[in-house]
Amino acid sequence: MNARDLLQSVRMAGSADGRRAVRSAWRRQRIDTRDLPRQGPERARVPGEALDAEPMPGGGVVRFSRSRLRVRVAVGGAVFCGWDGAAPEPSYALAGEGAGPPADGRAVLEPDKDGWRVVSERATVLISRQGAVEIRTPGGLLLRRELPPRWWDPTGQPDGSGTRWAQRSEVAADARVFGLGGRPGGPRLPAGSYRLWNTDPGGSFGPGDDPLYITMPVQLVVADAGCHLIFHDSTWDGRVTLRDGEEGAGSGHDRPGGCEVRMDGGPLRYWVIAGTPARVLAGWTALTGRPALPPRWALGHHHSRWGFGSGQEVRRVVAGYREHGLPLSVVHLDIDHFDGHRVFTVDRRNFPDLPDLAAELAAQGVRLVSIVDPAVKAEPGLAAYDGGVAVDAFVRDARGEQVRGVVWPGEAVFPDFTDPGARTWWGGLYAERLAQGFAGVWHDMNEPVSFAPFGDPTLPRSARHALEGRGGDHREAHNVYALGMARAGYEGLRRLRPEQRPFLFSRSGWAGMQRYGGSWSGDVATGWEGLRASLALVLGLGLCGVPYSGPDVGGFTGTPSPELYLRWFQMGAYLPFFRTHSAIFGGRREPWEFGAEVLGHARESLAGRMRLLPYLETLSHVARSTGAPYVRPLWWGSPGDRALRECGDAFLLGDALLVAPVMRPGSVAREIRLPRGRWYDTASGAAYRGRGQVRLDAPLARIPVLAKAGSILPVAGADGEVELEVWAPAEGRTGSGVVFTGDPEGWGAPRMERFVSRWVDGEVVVERDGGGEPGYRVRVRGAA
Ligand code: GLC
Repeated sequence: MNARDLLQSVRMAGSADGRRAVRSAWRRQRIDTRDLPRQGPERARVPGEALDAEPMPGGGVVRFSRSRLRVRVAVGGAVFCGWDGAAPEPSYALAGEGAGPPADGRAVLEPDKDGWRVVSERATVLISRQGAVEIRTPGGLLLRRELPPRWWDPTGQPDGSGTRWAQRSEVAADARVFGLGGRPGGPRLPAGSYRLWNTDPGGSFGPGDDPLYITMPVQLVVADAGCHLIFHDSTWDGRVTLRDGEEGAGSGHDRPGGCEVRMDGGPLRYWVIAGTPARVLAGWTALTGRPALPPRWALGHHHSRWGFGSGQEVRRVVAGYREHGLPLSVVHLDIDHFDGHRVFTVDRRNFPDLPDLAAELAAQGVRLVSIVDPAVKAEPGLAAYDGGVAVDAFVRDARGEQVRGVVWPGEAVFPDFTDPGARTWWGGLYAERLAQGFAGVWHDMNEPVSFAPFGDPTLPRSARHALEGRGGDHREAHNVYALGMARAGYEGLRRLRPEQRPFLFSRSGWAGMQRYGGSWSGDVATGWEGLRASLALVLGLGLCGVPYSGPDVGGFTGTPSPELYLRWFQMGAYLPFFRTHSAIFGGRREPWEFGAEVLGHARESLAGRMRLLPYLETLSHVARSTGAPYVRPLWWGSPGDRALRECGDAFLLGDALLVAPVMRPGSVAREIRLPRGRWYDTASGAAYRGRGQVRLDAPLARIPVLAKAGSILPVAGADGEVELEVWAPAEGRTGSGVVFTGDPEGWGAPRMERFVSRWVDGEVVVERDGGGEPGYRVRVRGAA
């Protein structure tokens, strides 16, 4: 919520806050005019001719007349390129603290025809004398050509911080780009321009809105020659412009795909990771951190609402779930349970007994999650405000004055999450949430938002930040504000409740946010387009290393038609984070509010989710140990299948399942493009051969789900015991699957078991890998 909806928020919050927002927006402009460095004339700089080169571990440095380029291959195969002396660290994205991942000593810079090259296991890097850099597969196929960069220094800052740069590159004509933090018009990103500046679009968003809450300079590129990920490690405002290539229909004159990255500042440095999609994600999450493992309960169904309004209403809704035979795992409390919208407080009139309510729900197996907004009401006497002032935690302007904005509680200040001390202080505040009985936290409004009737609804760009002691301003800190908040919350929860894994998800974030938790898709507009956009976001974010996310099922705004609600619910039941949520001005989202037919089908859908929990838990461990997202685009296992690169209306859930949500009104059947292999319709058991297109029934009761021949997945049997669902391999073939059983909430190491299946005398036999009884009940399907 912000700019576009200011009228709405003014009406809701009272006009005093509206006037405050106007004043705050003026103030922001005034401060920026006063404090931002003046722009002078701009002259572009290019690297110039190469002079010489010096080999170093993992690669080396090439000196050009006006810059130098460092190339370093890290152990694991990620290639780092840094211009103008840029090193991998400091970086907000990289996991761990220190000098970045160690160099692969086997890779060395050596002279080549027109320059130099570094040969490594996963990629060959060619550096031309003019400063172009090519990344090729070990077999010599071109993955990407980076043209010599250009710099402009309009401000002449001595630290070079405001130096803008642009980097153009070419990819194969057939290449398709995914990622950038997830974009609502994706998952395959159409040609166009995408901004890198975390933004609350205000009110709600649809497929055409850009940018949104999470932006990341991370591109996953899929082409016949191979896949690669490129990450430009600068946190500054920027833009990525993509152009589709064109194939010359056999003429040999392909027009390559194009990409231009322009940044307003920060180092010109990037990482390239090449390989299969699985290898790329493994490499990326080795670099930036493996995804946090959600507690088991977070894989169940969540119900949320902005505006439950009282503990009584929460009890009524939870009882409704029980009475209608609908399993429920988590309830989320939004800002309306705070006292006057002030974070870390409780409205004691309407929620007089929160810890008791939490205990009562826990006894029914329902956890409580609390929203946490970063903005603290600027109100002396308020514990969070006084505490922050005492440790000097709040963002100041260049003159040392507190930066004030307007958010839900009214005039507010903002913790500086790039300050280690502020993070530690903030993390300690979660003790209050734990004492209220909350089991997890939901970070919101952390782009960060400050309501503004005009201009950018965030902090002044000149606002000062600690940036881990280096010092800098909001232009550099903005995009990592939420990442820092996630770190503060995660580390706080670990200190306060060390025996339990934190459950945290965040609206905004940046590369590396998966270390601390997941995300949700924000205020998606209710409508069929919103449903499609919400899947695009989950897929895109997963390819950027953040596997746990999901949308507001039913959409954030308004009231979905019963059909739209049901179709969204059916899709949500197969996404990692499955939560119904809506705005205070939106309609209800409980399954029984949409009539008996929808209720019946939603119940089935929930039962299906419960049955899949062991599989989802396995996928959470797979994500944790390999970076592979639970939800994957159809091309994941067959990136060479060009038609699949364009499919945004279906997804793979792990290796075993293909889910084809219904995304259009009135549909009772749909086309599905199958990856290669044999696939079974899980409803009818009928087998289909991929590649190719099939048309499957999609009655209101269910969406099509196919299982891959040969897959073995753990599911919960009717008695709740885990059983193996085994989909017959094609005749003469074998199948396999893994099962992870983990500690539900703690840190204990999971148990991994592998199973294999094969045909013996006309029957499918399942064994543990290496031999022996499976030890689980087995249900073979598709063998008829
Ligand atoms: C933001 C969030 C939304 C929440 C609302 C009130 O719009 O995205 O989920 O309900 O704020 O806190």
